Amino acid sequence: MKEVAKLVIDGKELTLPLIEGSQGEKAIDIRSLRQETGYITFDPGLGNTGACRSSITYMDGEKGILRYRGVPIEQLAEHSTFVETAFLLITGQLPTRDELTRTSVYLNDFSPLHENMKAFYQNYPPKAHPMGILSAMVNAMRSFYPELLDIEEEMNKTYLRLISKIRTMAAMAYRISKGERVVYPRPDLCYCANFLNMMFDSVVIPYHVDKDLVKALNVFLILHADHEQNCSTTAVRVVGSGKVNIYSALSAGISALWGPLHGGANQAVVNMLERIHSEGLTVKECISKARDRNDPFRLMGFGHRVYKTYDPRAKIMKKMCDVILSKIRRKDPLLDIVQELEDAALNDSYFKEKNLYPNVDFYSGIVLRAMGIPTNMFTVMFAIGRLPGWIAQWKEDVADPEMRITRPRQIYSGNLKQDYIPIDDRG
Ligand code: CMC
Repeated sequence: MKEVAKLVIDGKELTLPLIEGSQGEKAIDIRSLRQETGYITFDPGLGNTGACRSSITYMDGEKGILRYRGVPIEQLAEHSTFVETAFLLITGQLPTRDELTRTSVYLNDFSPLHENMKAFYQNYPPKAHPMGILSAMVNAMRSFYPELLDIEEEMNKTYLRLISKIRTMAAMAYRISKGERVVYPRPDLCYCANFLNMMFDSVVIPYHVDKDLVKALNVFLILHADHEQNCSTTAVRVVGSGKVNIYSALSAGISALWGPLHGGANQAVVNMLERIHSEGLTVKECISKARDRNDPFRLMGFGHRVYKTYDPRAKIMKKMCDVILSKIRRKDPLLDIVQELEDAALNDSYFKEKNLYPNVDFYSGIVLRAMGIPTNMFTVMFAIGRLPGWIAQWKEDVADPEMRITRPRQIYSGNLKQDYIPIDDRG
């Protein structure tokens, strides 16, 4: 007999079907609830709500597992490249050699930016945050590069155009914000090397592309490439559910990512570490501030809605920190602070009881600093990495016959009906 859930409400019994995912995760299908009973469910933050079926990313927050299309994140970080991982996420398959070559050719062809788009950059105030610029630019792409026809091959070009141009746009935002000349993409360089070259090449000191830094950047982007139904991906799906164009849906994702509780945490971690360093705060003081409910201070880079153990991405990022810092032979004083904070928090009863562990952002800022990426570009780096994930999720969403426009209900808690009072009678 098929298993069901039974709900007794107002003396009436309702039978609700159960759904089981391919990894055994279970859900109660409540689609008939409101119609049958007049009740809705109440779940702020949607922590208990499955909003879609998805075959892209699997996470087990208790065991610290993360897989893209079934492939463990550890294997991808070790053996894959960002471009190959993007292909895997978007198409569901690892590419053949021919497919990978064709993808690289398209990424190269699409890498320059429309000259008229460059004019936008010049008009931003010098201190404008690059995330705001990036979100606006991706939205503006709709006007410069209308979506191609809804045919797989054509849409694939739109995805590759986005993946290619976001890298050019990000590097350009940085160069212009520093008042430096724009460096154009080079067809002889791979995706990550091209980005580093566009960021750091100069007439005085030509940029030397280092293969270890290129590897580190690939790993960084792979680790950020998807994370199932997180805040920004949900933003992409929600905005996309109104059938808006892909550029606008992705631009919404970039805006959502900017927040310090989400992708902005990588910048917030380094800001926090710099503050600790400059103000001479002790680790003990930080932990006690983080524990204090009346203090807004949070240990940034710690805690996660899904992971109740060490984030598997943080483990890889932590290892990468050591590799990169020894490679560039630089000691970062913030690394000592981060390590002390981690030890103290992992041994603290508050963090233990609440299952708060380092997340991907705890060490990623140190890695990016070592690569020479400025702090205000950290979340942009996350966005470049997350783009293939957003595209894959958007694509899945628009093709899913079960999906409807996202339109949640609410529990109204405002005034009961009251009459309008003319302004002269309001006292
Ligand atoms: N420092 C101190 N206390 C914390 C922290 C933290 N970093 N994170 C959670 N808590 C406490 C929180 O105060 C709450 O306590 P109580 O039960 O007494 O109310 C409890 O732990 C549960 O936290 P929550 O905020 O209800 O959990 P959530 O699932 O809503 O939020 C989170 C998850 C990631 C927003 C949160 O842990 C946080 O703010 N962390 C710091 C920001 C951060 O590092 N964000 C990056 C997340 S990973 C990158 C990404 O994928 O976005």
